Amino acid sequence: IVRSFSNSAAVNSAIKNVTIIGGGLMGSGIAQVTAQAGQNVTLVDVNSDILAKSQKSINNSLGRIAKKIYKDNPQEGEKFAREASERIKTATDPVAAVKDTDLVIEAIVENLDVKHALFQKLDNAAPAHTIFASNTSSLSINDISSVVKRKDRFGGLHFFNPVPVMRLLEVVRGGETTDSTFDTMMQWGKSIGKTCVACKDTPGFIVNRLLVPYMAEALRLLERGDASARDIDIAMKLGAGYPMGPIELLDYVGLDTTKFILDGWNKNYPDQPLFKPIPILNKLVAEGKLGVKTGEGFYKYDKK
Ligand code: NAI
Repeated sequence: IVRSFSNSAAVNSAIKNVTIIGGGLMGSGIAQVTAQAGQNVTLVDVNSDILAKSQKSINNSLGRIAKKIYKDNPQEGEKFAREASERIKTATDPVAAVKDTDLVIEAIVENLDVKHALFQKLDNAAPAHTIFASNTSSLSINDISSVVKRKDRFGGLHFFNPVPVMRLLEVVRGGETTDSTFDTMMQWGKSIGKTCVACKDTPGFIVNRLLVPYMAEALRLLERGDASARDIDIAMKLGAGYPMGPIELLDYVGLDTTKFILDGWNKNYPDQPLFKPIPILNKLVAEGKLGVKTGEGFYKYDKK
């Protein structure tokens, strides 16, 4: 948090105006960290009710961060939060919102057809120099960019939840991303205070490519009856030093999200044994037990 703020002076000169499409969990966080770094943001979603919610959650988060950074100077903290908040404009028309933008980051629903429809519209409307990026977790950047002409100015910017807290940004190079586009994306990531890692367009990039099969293997261990869920979690925390066990992590991420990612990869890579469906996961998802968010997954949680 402190990093993203202290780096705000080093705003990348190539990118001044950023348009973020999708004001949900991820888009709101991306809008916030971009505005905190001193850049102008336009946040786009389908209607103004959703955008009002996005703004509320951004303002709450900015307030918390301001309190932390400016413990001894609440006035300065208020100014910081207000100025960041004022840098975020909202809009419901994506075409108008990209007319004067340097970077578009798409964080809408994880559906290839919907992303295609959006990018096709934006490709005709945005200036020639504008870089397009997707925050997709599980789709291929090359598949998403297949519908645009500017494949050389297209890549992946994969953030982690919660965006203001998680320091990593995976910068993904598509098959036709030029060095200049890639360098600009890396510099931009640094300008908003993230630590950037480079990755090619492969399923799950770095983090999810390792994390999803790891969680899947934990479930296969459980399914075979080799160990209990609790013991698997204890083992990985105390034996491998992980802050959470794989099954707790699944409940936290959402069982539906992990199933969705696995199913998509399995369809595209049917020969990869690590991506095969997991009956126990499918059963819980069918029962609506999706993890922490529904009060029950592999464990039970108190609903607040
Ligand atoms: P979300 O459901 O919280 O937000 C998506 C938002 O996009 C919604 O507000 C929806 O109204 C809006 N939207 C849908 N279609 C739209 C369109 N055509 N035009 C404008 N707005 C539209 O979803 P979330 O979790 O923020 O995920 C968004 C993207 O980020 C997905 O591609 C997901 O794979 C990716 N992602 C998600 C992570 C997570 O932990 N949830 C982590 C990293 C990436």
